[in-house]
Amino acid sequence: MQSNSQTITENKQDFLPLKGTDFIEFYVGNAKQAAHYYKSAFGFKNLAYAGPETGVRDRASYVLVQGKIRLVLTTPLNSNHPINQHLIKHGDGVHSLALWVDDAYYAFEQTVKRGAKVFMEPTTIKDENGEVRMSGIHTYGETVHIFVERKNYNGPFMPGYVKMESEFNPEDVGLLYVDHCVGNVGWNRMNTWVKFYEDVLGFKNILSFDDKDISTEYSALMSKVMSNGNGYIKFPINEPAEGKKKSQVEEYLDFYEGEGVQHIAVATNNIIDTVTKLRSRGVEFLTIPDSYYDSLKDRVGNIDEEIKILKSLSILVDRDDEGYLLQIFTKPVEDRPTLFYEIIQRKGAKSFGKGNFKALFESIEIEQAKRGNL
Ligand code: FE2
Repeated sequence: MQSNSQTITENKQDFLPLKGTDFIEFYVGNAKQAAHYYKSAFGFKNLAYAGPETGVRDRASYVLVQGKIRLVLTTPLNSNHPINQHLIKHGDGVHSLALWVDDAYYAFEQTVKRGAKVFMEPTTIKDENGEVRMSGIHTYGETVHIFVERKNYNGPFMPGYVKMESEFNPEDVGLLYVDHCVGNVGWNRMNTWVKFYEDVLGFKNILSFDDKDISTEYSALMSKVMSNGNGYIKFPINEPAEGKKKSQVEEYLDFYEGEGVQHIAVATNNIIDTVTKLRSRGVEFLTIPDSYYDSLKDRVGNIDEEIKILKSLSILVDRDDEGYLLQIFTKPVEDRPTLFYEIIQRKGAKSFGKGNFKALFESIEIEQAKRGNL
């Protein structure tokens, strides 16, 4: 039985090789100002643009880059645009987690055959720099996955966009790539979406956390981490669990008015430097109680970083069998308490900081209480 399920899992992995996260597209109320925030606070740079100046009449999209991370910030330019419905319901949020593939038509065929709901039929777009082939499927909430094939394209982003240069280029903060993207789904919906990623995209459930792992005195959640075959794409899926008070996932679902992306974790090779720079530019992080650091050495053993410095920056540490990791979480980056970021530095560890859940969630609850949502 064991070997049978192993074989099935391996076969499932083969049909959708993913090369990484291609881009993350946000629908926002004012892309020009959001782009300025991600540049000045997070150290992104302009890469490309589409809007009225380039012949696109109904929206403006700013493409920003740092390391291998590409963010697309899109705003509709009139009240009839369908993107407005997304904005009215969810506020600013992630619409698309785009996945880099070798063959977007094949990815579409394989996933739709396995039950994916169609978002975008396979499409080829061309300009003088070559062609990009794309297709898209729906996932949780109103979030979608776009499959992007760009092996025959040499332009800055994709056809329809022009290279964008700016005189305002703040120094980057050392963000390298997307480590994982977490989705919040509704009550008792986690296993539905776990099955979706297993059956439709061939992912594996590599880690599970139940409400005993992730609960404080007040609130709880459950989580399963889904990974594609090569581990480049990791999507943890959270659902709320019953506690004395309102779970942070429930707060998200209330304010996002549905399922959606909760946090994007971005990797750095030097978290102390990255977080020092982010703090100096006004990025707000969750505060961790001093007591967390009193027992840190006993819990994680020897680490390269000075605990005093980690404490001054509220950086968390956790260890697993393969090494340790350092991580920190921003406060929500929008007025609705929905999307936030994680900065993560992995020193061998491949896990997600289970040893930090309690300290982290107590810290989130302090913020929830301030908002009157606990
Ligand atoms: Fe995370």
